[in-house]
Amino acid sequence: MTATTGATAVRGFRSAELGWPELHRIPHPPYRLPVVGDALGSNPRAPIQDSLRLGRRLGPIFRRKAFGKEIVFVGGAGLAAEMADEARFAKHVGLGVANLRPVAGDGLFTAYNHEPNWQLAHDVLAPGFSREAMAGYHPVMLDVAERLTEHWDAAGAAGRAVDVPGDMTKLTLETIARTGFGHDFGSFGRTRPHPFVAAMVGTLTFAQRRNVVPDPLAPLLLRSATRHNQADMAYLNDTVDAVVRARRSSGGSGGGGDLLDRMLETAHPETGERLSAENVRRQVITFLVAGHETTSGALSFALHYLAQHPDLADRARAEVDQVWGDTSRPGYEQVARLRYVRRVLDEALRLWPTAPAFSREAREDTVLGGVHPMRRGAWALVLTAMLHRDPEVWGADAERFDPDRFDAAAVRARPPHTFKPFGTGARACIGRQFALHEATLVLGLLLRRYELRPDPAYRLRVAERLTLMPDGLRLNVDRRVGGAGADAEAPQVSSSPSGCPVTGAGD
Ligand code: HEM
Repeated sequence: MTATTGATAVRGFRSAELGWPELHRIPHPPYRLPVVGDALGSNPRAPIQDSLRLGRRLGPIFRRKAFGKEIVFVGGAGLAAEMADEARFAKHVGLGVANLRPVAGDGLFTAYNHEPNWQLAHDVLAPGFSREAMAGYHPVMLDVAERLTEHWDAAGAAGRAVDVPGDMTKLTLETIARTGFGHDFGSFGRTRPHPFVAAMVGTLTFAQRRNVVPDPLAPLLLRSATRHNQADMAYLNDTVDAVVRARRSSGGSGGGGDLLDRMLETAHPETGERLSAENVRRQVITFLVAGHETTSGALSFALHYLAQHPDLADRARAEVDQVWGDTSRPGYEQVARLRYVRRVLDEALRLWPTAPAFSREAREDTVLGGVHPMRRGAWALVLTAMLHRDPEVWGADAERFDPDRFDAAAVRARPPHTFKPFGTGARACIGRQFALHEATLVLGLLLRRYELRPDPAYRLRVAERLTLMPDGLRLNVDRRVGGAGADAEAPQVSSSPSGCPVTGAGD
């Protein structure tokens, strides 16, 4: 791991100039003004989409400055591949990620590389994502997906359009809460999102706003937002404390050995160390948030593109019919066999990587791309959505949705490090397999059960709150007639209780 200190990280955050001796070589938008820098005309609610537009004009590396903060963006495949080299670069905890430290502390996602709790928690929790563990989560994932199909059956029968991001968020929150923590938020029994989701969205949105409001103005401009954020953080902490208390008093998950059991009971295999109570709290929040928001977005974008491309949806559906036959509960092994469905998901994550950027810092003095010297600790933001559209890798039609970009031969033909929705290196996503299994399973179940009818007037709008989500996406869902498994009864949902012990169901 890098020896970079938190102090270096903060210094890098304040001004990239400190670490980039030849910053002037990196282009920035024209008409830069004193104090406000490049902020005029930018949309503080859509910084990623703003940066994508700028990147198209300015090239594979560029910088933006607002109120004294300067950030270097990297979106070209060659430079991004260099930054994926773990010998030269490491994760940088900065920008929005650092803004989540007050709530997620040294939890896995927000830990500085040098903090001992990162390695400890990584080693203790990684087996919770092994193949064996995943096979254990599969039946619970199916149960939750069946709650969704009950909900969509009722909407379809009543001729009501479904709120895709809202429902995907219910699904993914329930999935991580039940598989990881044996907790049931009762999301499908509610008309409004669970307050946990509202508090989480509030915290993520605040973290993003904190990036664009200059430090000296923050106390003034964000006074009420800060108060609100404090209430959101308190709610997240209280919810998590209640989940942990319930587990401690019940004395374990009842044999499953889920993530929470690991956090509470498992000692490091070599050192014998355990996670502290405070760190468990940080990890539970981290996993509840990181474990659902991005998967929900990925599913939502995939459903949008499938609805817009009925020919591709038919192709995916034919695969599901062929691989799953009319079994009502596909087995664990049958999910990875949905190769085309998985390509649809990859292609959705290419165009809209729902965790849209990650930061990398130099481990030692180095020269990026042979022309941009960087001092140790200097950092840049890799703009994944721009990397995923680099025409040199993805062609002149990179904006076009085409799942065949992910067939095996096409993947083999591409250079490494060109597709990075899950980040890179030692700090890449620990939940990647979990997300891919869950999302492929759910897309398979939905495709085989419904025809998706988009609203012809809908044009994709992307909402940003550190993560990306299609805004206002609603679809009509009609039960399919015929087709293997299309008419399968929703199987009985197994054992889990239906209410949320924290706030009661149905809020
Ligand atoms: C489509 C879904 C997902 C996407 C796109 C995604 C994306 C990412 C990315 C880009 C990173 C690296 C961030 C950085 O370098 O700063 C990351 C890290 C992480 N993700 Fe995910 N993620 C997804 C699902 C999940 C799930 C389901 C879980 C948990 C069950 C999870 C837990 C985490 C954690 C704990 C980290 C921090 C890992 C570490 O630093 O050791 N993610 N994710």
